[in-house]
Amino acid sequence: MAAPLRKDQELELTIDSLAYGGNGVARLNGFVVFVRRGLPGDTVRARVTKVKRSHAEATALEVVEAGAPRVDAPCAHFPECGGCRFQDLAYEAQLDAKARQVVDALERIGKLSDFETEPAVPAESLFHYRNKLEYSFTQTPEGVGLGFHKAGRWDEVLNVERCWLTTDLGNSIRNRVRAWANEEGFAAFDQETHEGYLRHLVVREGRNTNQALVVLVTAPGALPEERFVAAVQTFPEVRSVHWAVNDTPAEVTNLPTKLLWGEEAIEEAILGLRFRVRPNAFMQTNTAMCEQLYRLAGEYAALTGEETVYDLYCGTGTIGLSLARAALTVWGIDSSEESIACAVENAELNGVTNAAFFAGEVGADVDELRDRAGPPDVVVVDPPRSGLAGKSLKRVAALEALRLVYVSCNPTTLAGNAKELVGDFGYRLERVRPLDMFPHTPHVESVALFTRGQ
Ligand SMILES: C[S@@+](CC[C@H](N)C(=O)[O-])C[C@H]1O[C@@H](n2cnc3c(N)ncnc32)[C@H](O)[C@@H]1O
Repeated sequence: MAAPLRKDQELELTIDSLAYGGNGVARLNGFVVFVRRGLPGDTVRARVTKVKRSHAEATALEVVEAGAPRVDAPCAHFPECGGCRFQDLAYEAQLDAKARQVVDALERIGKLSDFETEPAVPAESLFHYRNKLEYSFTQTPEGVGLGFHKAGRWDEVLNVERCWLTTDLGNSIRNRVRAWANEEGFAAFDQETHEGYLRHLVVREGRNTNQALVVLVTAPGALPEERFVAAVQTFPEVRSVHWAVNDTPAEVTNLPTKLLWGEEAIEEAILGLRFRVRPNAFMQTNTAMCEQLYRLAGEYAALTGEETVYDLYCGTGTIGLSLARAALTVWGIDSSEESIACAVENAELNGVTNAAFFAGEVGADVDELRDRAGPPDVVVVDPPRSGLAGKSLKRVAALEALRLVYVSCNPTTLAGNAKELVGDFGYRLERVRPLDMFPHTPHVESVALFTRGQ
């Protein structure tokens, strides 16, 4: 059957829901159209941008009839910035849309129906929730600017005065660094010509410890280190100042750093445990909701103190260490050696003696872990967006743990994995609970409990 529309056609569409990724979903006689900037409940005039056999894509040009519960977006950079696409959608509607995405994915992709959906956990704070932000420098007619890439633009950076996702401290540090850059007369690095010096600024905060870490990323060339340190030292919270040099065209910040001043790392406190936050170590970026996420994972793990627990994709060991108090032993695997070094350090820092962490790939190395540690009673997985990819699903399922707690940041890969776990490996999906870590963005987290043989 031919698609009922063509490219560049303009038409009115009513948006039913939000798809994973944040586009609105509309249906034209059953044919699905994903509408950029379409909010559920709205009727919009949209232009078709792409037509495929199974669906089309369109962009909303105007709202013909507003149906979505709207609120005033407080940020002066909305919607140009693009970081908070849904700031003008009432929070209850955001949460509802995210919860529906998780359930829809499990039903539609996972072909599952017999599971309990618990009410979505709302974010504790709608704003100021991020503990890490990465900014890009840009050249403006007034001098050096510092902010975020505009929505969908790799070549345009928005100079930000106040970001609502960080704290007053985070905003002040960024603005102070921009002022310093202009006092020094530096130029921002230009992505096209590769001229200029300043590239990125990373600010991380220990939200429960009130400590901050700053990384300045430049092109090769001399940095007046003492003057940079003095600029950020005006904030007593800043405990750790680093410098990284990026001599490649790639827009990356995950680089080896030189400590310019202070401690190597700052600390964050999560569920009563202390964690070292190094410049490049992975840490959930919403501290308050990270605690809720780990609490939920702990509830689903239902430990009694007798269990051998595997923490797969363990990062810096945060989930495993928060479970260790209630487990017999905890064994973590992560592919990042730097994260594993942090996990080992974090275990020591907290006096946890029943947890061990290893660098490796889950798919390739989990069998070796089983040989060493014995079979697990409970497995927790927290994979990247791609889910349990390649061999890892089969290998994890073959562990035959009685409980498998799946922490997911992508409902579509969770659903694909759930289908196989249930259809091919004898697991049952018992419960799932969506959780909102990132208000105003399309991201949705969830925790699912799979059981077998009980
Ligand atoms: C979503 S993070 C979870 C980290 C940790 N559980 C936490 O809450 O902070 C995913 C982790 O998976 C790791 N990773 C990615 N692919 C992997 C693989 N094939 N095997 C093991 N770890 C992997 C990454 O290094 C990253 O730390």
